Amino acid sequence: MESSPFKKDCLKGKVALLTGGGSGIGLEISTQLGKHGASIAIMGRRRQVLDSAVSSLSSLSIPAIGFEGDVRKPDDARRVVESTYNHYGRIDILVNAAAGNFLVSAEDLSPNGFRTVLDIDSVGTFTMCHAALKYLKTGGVGRASSGGGVILNISATLHYTASWYQIHVSAAKAAVDATTRNLALEWGTDYDIRVNGIAPGPIGDTPGMRKLAPQEMQSKANDYMPLYKLGDKWDIAMAAVYLASDAGKYVNGAVLPVDGGLWLSRPRHLAKDAVRQMSRVVEKKTRNTPVGVPKSKL
Ligand code: COA
Repeated sequence: MESSPFKKDCLKGKVALLTGGGSGIGLEISTQLGKHGASIAIMGRRRQVLDSAVSSLSSLSIPAIGFEGDVRKPDDARRVVESTYNHYGRIDILVNAAAGNFLVSAEDLSPNGFRTVLDIDSVGTFTMCHAALKYLKTGGVGRASSGGGVILNISATLHYTASWYQIHVSAAKAAVDATTRNLALEWGTDYDIRVNGIAPGPIGDTPGMRKLAPQEMQSKANDYMPLYKLGDKWDIAMAAVYLASDAGKYVNGAVLPVDGGLWLSRPRHLAKDAVRQMSRVVEKKTRNTPVGVPKSKL
């Protein structure tokens, strides 16, 4: 994997708590925040996943600890936030990366299935932010130039338009982005806490991709991605380092799409050469036809 363009110590002394930080994109964010100097606490539902993530971080000499918990349970959120503070003595960065997802048509999705994903992604994100506020706002000893802490919410680009069989996730991520902006406004003003989002597009080698995109679709990525490739987990983690560090000290309330421009794209109907050719011919014709003079039928 590429080396980081950021200074190795740009997060030195910071403590980061990540939900869903034990696997996939969350684990890569844990790793890169750690490689840039942060101590890491991970919250997740599965002990085995937590233990494996902690041992992988420890092997890189990153201080790491895992706490079992479900973001849908406010008591778990409070307990994990407090345990993180008790363990490290401060919390500077909260990353909400826990998410639930599955492909299902709106017709086949039960209201409880819809609610389950909103509970994890949207309510879970707010619950964690709410539980961590008192630590993020007080500032640890020696807090660097930006006064309060930092929150990063991982969302998606699905809801910018509409996505097949993802009504529940689109609705949930729209709520996450709204939460990011509103907290940025309120907590930025009141406590100097910066709240930003990252919206990943299709990222290779993740549980999300394995769950949502069949293998043949992944191997065709070169054809449909604007940059002719899928993103890497590293791309998302670098966005996180940027937003969590003082490099992003004036960025608040932004949701940064990291999708290679996919959400903007449409299928290309005309080849570039055809456009050049056609454009010249049309220009010439327009120039030679005076405005208001009807073309001769002869
Ligand atoms: N298709 C349709 N509905 C589904 C579904 C699927 N694949 N998976 C769950 N649901 C529905 C259930 O039917 C249930 O609704 P019902 O009570 O009306 O039947 C509801 O969602 C809750 O399901 P349940 O299995 O009890 O929820 P859970 O809390 O155990 O787990 C997830 C739900 C989404 C969290 C589960 O898929 C999961 O554990 N995923 C791992 C994390 C993940 O998906 N990460 C994605 C990264 S992109």
